[in-house]
Amino acid sequence: MEGLYVRKGEAELKLPEKTIRIPIYEGSEGERGFDISALRKETGYITYDPGLVNTGACDSQITYINGEKGILRHRGYDIEDLAENCYFLEVAYLLIHGKLPSKREYNAFSDLMNRNSMIHEDMHNFFRNYPEGAHPMAVLSAMVVSLSSFYPEMENPVANEDMDMTVTRLLSKLRTIAAFSYKKSVGEPFVYPSHKYTYCENFLNMMFSSPVSDYKPDPVAVRALNLYLTIHADHEQNCSTSVVRFVGSAGSNLYASISAGICALWGPLHGGANEAVVNMIEGAIRDKLSPESLIAKAKDKASKFRLMGFGHRVYKAYDPRAKIAKRTCKKLLEKLGSSKDPIFEYAMELEDKALKDQYFVDKNLYPNVDFYTGIGYRAMGIPTSMFTVLFALGRLPGWIAQWLEMRDSKAQKIGRPRQIYTGPLKKEFVPLDKR
Ligand code: SDX
Repeated sequence: MEGLYVRKGEAELKLPEKTIRIPIYEGSEGERGFDISALRKETGYITYDPGLVNTGACDSQITYINGEKGILRHRGYDIEDLAENCYFLEVAYLLIHGKLPSKREYNAFSDLMNRNSMIHEDMHNFFRNYPEGAHPMAVLSAMVVSLSSFYPEMENPVANEDMDMTVTRLLSKLRTIAAFSYKKSVGEPFVYPSHKYTYCENFLNMMFSSPVSDYKPDPVAVRALNLYLTIHADHEQNCSTSVVRFVGSAGSNLYASISAGICALWGPLHGGANEAVVNMIEGAIRDKLSPESLIAKAKDKASKFRLMGFGHRVYKAYDPRAKIAKRTCKKLLEKLGSSKDPIFEYAMELEDKALKDQYFVDKNLYPNVDFYTGIGYRAMGIPTSMFTVLFALGRLPGWIAQWLEMRDSKAQKIGRPRQIYTGPLKKEFVPLDKR
């Protein structure tokens, strides 16, 4: 392992056949793990851990989460500090380059972003030929993987400056593709990015400007969007980031890896939860279901229903991002004139009642990042089908940083887990004409 780790002694594993010693390593924040990389060779045994709940797939210097204490840091900086004080592009730069940019570096990064925000005119045909009802996440994933056909020189960049260009192009073009996928879904003409706008102003302008409106991005919405994208920027080895690393470990290019990550994020148990939360609450209000009855359904094992936006694999305390998202949502609703949004009122009541319910207390189920962000996006006028696209836009710098770290790691191998086979034993083959 690279990075800041130290060997902290050994563990003893007593097997029926033999006893082996397993090295213990400790990370810079005191997390400890057994290095079992020699286990099968030395014992013939493998470990069994569905969902990799207890298994570390890599060591990383990008993001630290303490799920018990509700701590989230990127390159050592608390998410609260970054969300309150940074533009999203500063955080993207931090994740990818490992340090916060100087003013000069930030301006150069923003300028490069703007200069690369257009997509190839031929890509517009892709949008035009997509079915009307296509989900924007399907469009996003298809468009990203097709970028390598339009920009083949970036498919396998080697020198650092090439990778910088590839990374910046991807960060900038994903925003344009996301806005275009929305315009496509509402049948409006595409609005091109403008060099006079910042990253978030540009996105909102491409989303809501049209030939018949003199739309100006509202500073409150721009500030909130910067903050929302920032709290999504990275989250160590979550499902979609692990997919990006896995696909990249086979030598696939950055676009293919990111496209796979978008598909993983789409799932309602992962990034799709922000869309599912608003659908769940809208449905409850429509069907006159009280928060108590939703909670009862979530506790009923037979119902398979889950309270969307609640629970987390790692956080067993309040997700720090959810606190920031809730605060921002409140401000957005007050400033953008829908302060009595029935969905937000219902969400706050649902949270309040769930946090007092023994089932949720016993299982450490708290609101996660998805519980309030969708309601905030809705307050900005962003449609529900675009919520997970915004999650992907925010997560992109994290995916890129993790992919680059995987690619440059000396410990890196192609991802290939083992299994415990439980199928039939050897059978004698019977040819077709005898069956
Ligand atoms: C994200 O990993 C990341 O970092 C992800 C993410 C990121 O930034 O990348 O943070 C983004 O994906 C946030 C999570 C969004 N998903 C949801 O809000 C969907 C609802 N939540 C759950 O489905 C669930 O909490 C997960 C998927 C988030 C976590 O599932 P785990 O870790 O596999 O936990 P589990 O399914 O084993 O649940 C443990 C227990 C179970 O009960 P028992 O079998 O022990 O009796 O808690 C229960 C679950 O039934 N439970 C819930 C629940 N979440 C867990 N019960 C009701 N409602 C819920 N939401």
